Amino acid sequence: MLVNAKEMLDKARAGKYAVGQFNINNLEWTKAVLLTAQELNSPVILGVSEGAGKYMTGFETVAAMVAAMDKSLGITVPVALHLDHGTYEGCYKCIKAGFTSIMFDGSHFPIEENVAKTTELVNVAHGMGMSIEAEVGAIGGEEDGVIGKGECADPAECEMIAKLGVDFLAAGIGNIHGVYPDNWEGLSFETLDAINKKLTGSIGEVPLVLHGGTGIPDDQIKKAISLGVAKINVNTECQLVFADATRSYIEAGKDKQGKGFDPRKLLAPGFEAIKAKVKEKMELFGSVGKA
Ligand code: G3H
Ligand code: ZN
Repeated sequence: MLVNAKEMLDKARAGKYAVGQFNINNLEWTKAVLLTAQELNSPVILGVSEGAGKYMTGFETVAAMVAAMDKSLGITVPVALHLDHGTYEGCYKCIKAGFTSIMFDGSHFPIEENVAKTTELVNVAHGMGMSIEAEVGAIGGEEDGVIGKGECADPAECEMIAKLGVDFLAAGIGNIHGVYPDNWEGLSFETLDAINKKLTGSIGEVPLVLHGGTGIPDDQIKKAISLGVAKINVNTECQLVFADATRSYIEAGKDKQGKGFDPRKLLAPGFEAIKAKVKEKMELFGSVGKA
């Protein structure tokens, strides 16, 4: 059931669990995430980066595929179709294409411009019944060409952006896209705690978003949830298990046996690996049975 992400994330924040955002790249990815959510009775967010949208031949194609698959698979759990790390132009394309949620990543603009553009997009998105995420600070590393410096967010800036009416807020707290380096210092819980207290004191329980979910140790995930994180984004980890499973299938020569070269057979191990990874994350985040 396609919905915006506001209600599911407000519920998650109040219930002290998090909803996973899993980035999709194609039909197999989408089907694997949707089926796992349904099997586990979990709400879910399908994340689409601008790069992945382009790969899938545009946001219209993505929205049409997701809507049709949601129906044909008989998905009854809440599913949000969300633009991940959207530019100003990308947000408008997704609003037009029929997404249910957008992220406006204005963190690289001077704060005044970020405020002006975020205010405008909040009004447009809400007018269309969509939810909107904004980012303060910068998530480190690189994802689909979006490169972040990895600065921890300033709580006062978070308050300023959250007050514009965004439904959930991504704050940089030492998190990085991609695989964490060996010398990574871990999440800054001091920053997260300060942001959470600031927002709770003046606005209320705004669901916080943790990007760069790949490889964050379980205890840090749980602590982050206890401090207001209600949405956790995972991308690289699904790509890694998909690649490993596909490689093992080919290296074992299974593509040379019977009709193992059939793309439906060739992609099956990767599909199952994504399902297993999404299940593992939903269990860790506590969203199982929360649909
Ligand atoms: O926006 C998507 C994510 O933040 C995913 O990060 O690739 O490190 O899991 P990741
Ligand atoms: Zn991200």
